[in-house]
Amino acid sequence: MAQRETWATRTGFILAAVGSAVGLGNIWRFPFVAGEGGGAAFLVMYLLFVGLIGFPAILVEFVVGRRTERNPVGALMQLGGNTWKYIGGVFIVTGFVILSYYSVVAGWFIRYFLEGLRSSYASQLAGFESAAAEAGAPVAAVMFGELSTGIDAFVFHTLFMAVTIGVVALGIRRGIELATKLMVPAIVLLLVGMAVWAFTLSGSSAGYEYYLSPEFGVILDNWTSLLPAAAGQAFFTLSLGMGVMITYASYLGEDRNLTKDALTIIGFDTGIAFLTGLVVFPIFFAAGITEPGEGGPGAIFVSMTEAFATLSGGRILGILFFGTVAIAALSSAISLLEVVTAYLIDEKGVERWKASLGMGGVIYLLGVPVTFDLIFLDLLDLFADGILLVFGALVLMILVGWIAPQFAVEELSKGIGDLGSLGQAWIWAVRVPIIIVLLVSLSLGVMDYV
Ligand code: PFF
Ligand code: NA
Repeated sequence: MAQRETWATRTGFILAAVGSAVGLGNIWRFPFVAGEGGGAAFLVMYLLFVGLIGFPAILVEFVVGRRTERNPVGALMQLGGNTWKYIGGVFIVTGFVILSYYSVVAGWFIRYFLEGLRSSYASQLAGFESAAAEAGAPVAAVMFGELSTGIDAFVFHTLFMAVTIGVVALGIRRGIELATKLMVPAIVLLLVGMAVWAFTLSGSSAGYEYYLSPEFGVILDNWTSLLPAAAGQAFFTLSLGMGVMITYASYLGEDRNLTKDALTIIGFDTGIAFLTGLVVFPIFFAAGITEPGEGGPGAIFVSMTEAFATLSGGRILGILFFGTVAIAALSSAISLLEVVTAYLIDEKGVERWKASLGMGGVIYLLGVPVTFDLIFLDLLDLFADGILLVFGALVLMILVGWIAPQFAVEELSKGIGDLGSLGQAWIWAVRVPIIIVLLVSLSLGVMDYV
């Protein structure tokens, strides 16, 4: 068998992981999950989860990947024994489910980007005015309804998956590493530019206030739904519980300080989520939209097109915004396709291009129903994020915390030196508090689902 691939550089690994973490989770999912959870109140809870749970958990995935140099199925089997391969299979299923609808949503962003190139957002909205009058609904909502399902959505889902498959088929260095090296700096620059622009818009200051002042009462009143939502979002945003960080760390091939890398990656993801808020909320308020994120997957499209139609310079701003999100989605999607591709390569000896095309093709088909009815989107998202992700993370924590902790501490110390009591503190964080939060989230998530 051919030698297993590795990253060319340390920066390459970090940028690929940042590219995976930064995605629709930060830009599309976060505002509407937060909207349902009391705005900034949700933000506070989510930040706590990212620090206290996300950080130890990303290290768990890193050590598992680096030690085994395998995809999640092979990795779990190697560490836990044969029965664990079925549990590792959960990660593959999660990859299938999440990527199938993620691609459809990413397709919407490509669509809105291209529409902006064609004509101003104001004139597009004008095109839906009569339909909106007939339906008695807001124009931007009608436009979203038209564009988000049906043949157009299908076409853009197809396009997005094709590009994703193409990048993964090219391999770790020539595909993923090269692509993310270009995409991640572009995302950061574009968002910073847009945040500055948003700051200069008149009326934007109310947006900062809305975004940055939490209502703590909301947390206390709704913790049973907020807890699983915030934990789920913390895992989702860091690409945890889906095997991505296991797989990416499996290509490291050398021992370096994983803690540092983890902090860099978390810093980027959190920074970019926060930065997106500094773009989105000022733009909303500058355009006179004072009730942003009433919820639902269409919220950001509806509010953003309204804003881009209203603001001077809105067309350029809109093209940049939708384009940036599409890029961010692509750098995430390739990571998830890499998980299932690596599984076929490692375990079944399939060639890379065949594996990515085959797996990508099946995932693509699974996403097709979503392009025709958004009901599937809600179902899949709730199931994947509320149950599958948490379950995957939970079994991984049990394996590393309780069944094979020695290897984990030893592996983490490589490139760092003796961890002393910090290593034990990490294992105990994994063993008790993290497992409890995941168990509670999982039960609440299941109750929510049924
Ligand atoms: N961390 C990603 C995000 O926040 O968007 C989550 C993700 C979803 C990664 C789907 C990959 C993927 F295909
Ligand atoms: Na993210």
